[in-house]
Amino acid sequence: NGGDSALQALPIPELLEDENPEAGIASYNLVARHGTMNFFDGVETLTMGYNGNYLGPVIKLQRGEEVHMKVTNELKEPTSVHWHGLEVPGTEDGGPHQPIASGGIWEPSFTIDQPAATLWFHPHVIGTTATQVYYGLAGMLIIEDENSQSLGLPSEYGVNDIPLILQDRSFNDNGSFLYYDNMMDGAFGEHLMVNGAITPYLDVKPIKIRFRILNGANARNYYLQLSDGKGFQQIASDGGLLEKPVEKEGLFLSPGERAEIVIDFSSYDDGDVVAFKTGEEEIMTFRIGGDREDPSTVPETLAVIEKMEESSATGIKTIELDGMGHMVTLNGRQFDMDRIDDNVVLDDVEIWEITTTGRMMMGTTGHPFHIHGTQFQVLSRNGAPPDPNEQGWKDTVFVGVNETVRVIVQFQHKGVYMYHCHILEHEEAGMMGQLEVK
Ligand code: C2O
Ligand code: CU
Repeated sequence: NGGDSALQALPIPELLEDENPEAGIASYNLVARHGTMNFFDGVETLTMGYNGNYLGPVIKLQRGEEVHMKVTNELKEPTSVHWHGLEVPGTEDGGPHQPIASGGIWEPSFTIDQPAATLWFHPHVIGTTATQVYYGLAGMLIIEDENSQSLGLPSEYGVNDIPLILQDRSFNDNGSFLYYDNMMDGAFGEHLMVNGAITPYLDVKPIKIRFRILNGANARNYYLQLSDGKGFQQIASDGGLLEKPVEKEGLFLSPGERAEIVIDFSSYDDGDVVAFKTGEEEIMTFRIGGDREDPSTVPETLAVIEKMEESSATGIKTIELDGMGHMVTLNGRQFDMDRIDDNVVLDDVEIWEITTTGRMMMGTTGHPFHIHGTQFQVLSRNGAPPDPNEQGWKDTVFVGVNETVRVIVQFQHKGVYMYHCHILEHEEAGMMGQLEVK
């Protein structure tokens, strides 16, 4: 597994610089490229990254802003950049229908018209999505709006507002990535990584710190807990702030899902160390110390979320996710680029009933189901109301073994959009469909 790794500080991705001086218009450059990293002393790992060796910069956008992206593909293979969670026309979505050839350039543009949220971007080409993400192509995308900026939440990037991109990776002895999908369980890694570092540490002041957490793993579910059992507040789900903070003792995140949480470190003493764990495994540690003056608050009310009414729905879709052995299906079939599986009328409200069969791969406990181009609301899980932290905007929802999850969804833009399991090996193997909004 590649030898020793020194205890590493959590890398904080840079904020991507807006190259357009005009107010209200932003221009960004992303370059997908090959790179190398020293995850372990003395060995080199071949990687992929955006504007760097592994992962990418954080892109921070403002609601209402007009955004121009220029994506250059310096890889030796085609790629694409999908804006996961962003509400944009199908042509700008960056799915498998917008591939960028090796050496090519893609220049999507869109206007941000959705609430403040923590989203992300990653490749989405047929056949290489899972490996390109595994090699390092992923990044976080943050939207702010007037509401999010008026609440007094911890919001100083890199200081009390910290991105955490969770991944797991395995390595060969020579340092190269070991990518292995066991019987369609998906590719799991032996080492837990955060922002590209193996079980790193972060020095934090004894104040409230906001973490924007992305499960960027190919297949692993996380159940995040502090090692001393102390709780924290969840303030946002995939698509934005919750109505009010939700107290949590643990946080479940399946691949593709995000959550924003606030941990109040003020009850710790200088010199205390506490870890973030999933199950028995350590993800990272926090070393507490320093100035106790806390500039931020977490208000009782975070956002107004207009509930979508079931009575306004014009149709019901059923989605059955099934898998066994080397075969995965969505509604009994596998993805076909040339087949549109569903049609949706712009602005129509639909209910989607997503089920899994009891048949599962060996280690799979369910499927994280993602819909492109929109944010939805969860109506029920096995007939019961969703947990409070699933009552906000979502674009990815975990559907466990033998569960039925009902969501209510509306599309704001036209175009072709994917929907699929976000275990990347399942998506890759065909657990994906596409719809056209007209
Ligand atoms: Cu995160 Cu179809 O993608
Ligand atoms: Cu799946």
